[in-house]
Amino acid sequence: MNLKFPCYRICFLFLSILITGLACRQKMAGEKQVRLYNEPHRPQYHFSPPAKWMNDPNGMVYYEGEYHLFYQYYPDGNTWGPMHWGHAVSEDMVKWKHLPIALFPDPLGYIFSGSAVVDWKNTSGLGKDGRPAMVAIYTYHSPESEKSGSNTFQNQGIAYSLDKGRTWQKYEGNPVLKNPGIRDFRDPKVIWHEASQTWMMALAVKDKISFYTSTNLLQWKHSADFNPPWAAYGGVWECPDFFPLKTPTGAEKWVLLVSINPGAPNGGSGTQYFIGNFDGKRFRTETNEIKWLDYGADNYAGVTWSDVPKTDGRRLFIGWMSNWTYAQIVPTEVWRSAMTVPRALELQERDGQYSLVSKPVRELQVLRSKVVQVKSSRINLPSDCLDIELSAVATDFKLTFSNEKGEKVILEKKGDEITFDRSRSGIAAFSSDFKQIHRAPAQNLVIKNIRVFLDRSSMEFFFNDGALAVTELVFPNSPYTLLETEGIVEKGTLYPLRSVWEGK
Ligand code: FRU
Repeated sequence: MNLKFPCYRICFLFLSILITGLACRQKMAGEKQVRLYNEPHRPQYHFSPPAKWMNDPNGMVYYEGEYHLFYQYYPDGNTWGPMHWGHAVSEDMVKWKHLPIALFPDPLGYIFSGSAVVDWKNTSGLGKDGRPAMVAIYTYHSPESEKSGSNTFQNQGIAYSLDKGRTWQKYEGNPVLKNPGIRDFRDPKVIWHEASQTWMMALAVKDKISFYTSTNLLQWKHSADFNPPWAAYGGVWECPDFFPLKTPTGAEKWVLLVSINPGAPNGGSGTQYFIGNFDGKRFRTETNEIKWLDYGADNYAGVTWSDVPKTDGRRLFIGWMSNWTYAQIVPTEVWRSAMTVPRALELQERDGQYSLVSKPVRELQVLRSKVVQVKSSRINLPSDCLDIELSAVATDFKLTFSNEKGEKVILEKKGDEITFDRSRSGIAAFSSDFKQIHRAPAQNLVIKNIRVFLDRSSMEFFFNDGALAVTELVFPNSPYTLLETEGIVEKGTLYPLRSVWEGK
């Protein structure tokens, strides 16, 4: 031992080691926090990208036990930019595994929204050794061509995968459907039409849906257009979906979803839908009433999964939980945007009229960590992630969610209307549009039950078993801890929900 080494030096050395050690631990904790998806407002059970910007869900397809979710993704920024297809898979639509980016921009353009199918019969010839190809059909958006003043900068291309969506080949004959000279020509949704044994494509073409048919996914022929004069035309039509559903008495109807931006009932982006009949060529509706899938401001560009096994039989949907009006300035930094909870879409009949019902999928129940019965009109909320079920026989009522900072959200049914007020919900000043009061029609509506999915920055309300859905973003500065109910039978159940990121 060197006795000349003074005591204060030993203390100094010891202290510096301690400080460095602590700093290191803190850094690691910081990194861990990112990996745990634990930033303020980060959804705990809604799908969000690990980092950076996301918009529309794309290419949703089920194959060999996996639900695939692709999405519009800009990996280099937290606002919209050159689009890629991000990718994740899940066995239950609840717990997701992030996978590497599936599709990158190429000389034909950015990769805009589209769909994916499994080519079971190998109609395209892209399958190999008896293995069907998973085929993605998407829009190429060429920024150069757009800048040059051309109108033909959006065209449809395809890519295929022979290894469960893990790697992708762009088809060498791209584009497979060329633009005839219309600026908005995008978001192909392709389905296999059993009755005519052909592929059908629904494409958003400015303010109409154009239908195309194909026998091999590679050549497409225009068959019909859909643009009834009474539909909503407040903005450009985007992201169609087209599928059959059974009525409660077992008849078949066809449903066409059309997202529209702007022009939604509560401003900005929203999804209108049509119910009718399809003869293999033309889609016709029976009524001429505009119907909206969701009366909240934050459910856009939603589409349904392809190839869900017939034994399951559900039509499973997910939407982008945001609105183009403010999507790029919502107060999150590491990532931007999440998806809605997955929902099963069903048809209901009321007074001879059909409408869509949105039901959160039963798989979400795996997240319930315990059961809390409530019997009072003042309910202490045990968590910021909740599945709330209220039985409520009421014509008029009010629900107020609040925190100790005085921030609150008010949902109220009065007479013929349901209103949602998030003007004092927390961080809201980033957009005056965000603070607007939203309205949903509720004529002759007696509310029998209410289901609320609360996450760290969203609220999804489902009234009367999903007959009316209201999806809304909120950014409270601290979690809502109190729910006050007025005017309804105060009986309910709360289920605190686990984070899907636990253990990742
Ligand atoms: C809808 C949309 C689509 C387009 C994509 C681009 O939100 O505008 O029409 O393909 O986003 O990211």
